[in-house]
Amino acid sequence: MSGPAFQYRRPARVLHWTMAVLVIAMIGAGVLMVQPDLDRSLQNGLFMFHKNVGVLLLFLLILRALYRWRHPPAALPDDVPGWQRQAAGLSHVSLYTLLLAMPIAGYIRVKAGGFPIETLDWLGIPSLVPRSDAVAETAKVVHYFSGIALGAFIVLHIGAAAYHGILRRDGVFSRMWPPFARRHG
Ligand code: HEM
Repeated sequence: MSGPAFQYRRPARVLHWTMAVLVIAMIGAGVLMVQPDLDRSLQNGLFMFHKNVGVLLLFLLILRALYRWRHPPAALPDDVPGWQRQAAGLSHVSLYTLLLAMPIAGYIRVKAGGFPIETLDWLGIPSLVPRSDAVAETAKVVHYFSGIALGAFIVLHIGAAAYHGILRRDGVFSRMWPPFARRHG
């Protein structure tokens, strides 16, 4: 299957690959910045990157969800078994949910903890949560476990993409690749 209607549109591809690169960079920065004995200025830079790009990712996610709602993707090819369709649907909902939970929990962890988020502070946006160590600690735990779940779903997602691209070769991988292709028609 490869007809134009089967492909993702260009904005959907650009959003997918921009977010893919940023989310993987966020996980790398997140894991690295909490390592003990890390150089202080490197740690500060990573935290600044992580907090501010994390908030940007929340906006990109909202934009993407709105775009998808206006332009739903085509159905999978007819020969994809029912259980794989269900697994794909479930894993995509899980990815969206976790990509929503991560920045929200991160935001609460930082703001309830009394720390800055430089771009939001610079724009004069006040904290949406009250200062509370207990809330900050809970959000930290949610952020941590959601991060592990997100990592697992990303591995599953890449595995499924490789299965379609290498084993089945049914056009499901190439309808999202390359990142900037224009959809014809
Ligand atoms: C898609 C977005 C995000 C992803 C994938 C992500 C991922 C991660 C990961 C993997 C960690 C390391 C695990 C840990 O020790 O907790 C981490 C830590 C952290 N993240 Fe995020 N994060 C995201 C968004 C945010 C946002 C928006 C903020 C704040 C505005 C934030 C603030 C933090 C903080 C403060 C930590 C250190 C946790 C601590 O020890 O207090 N994150 N993040």
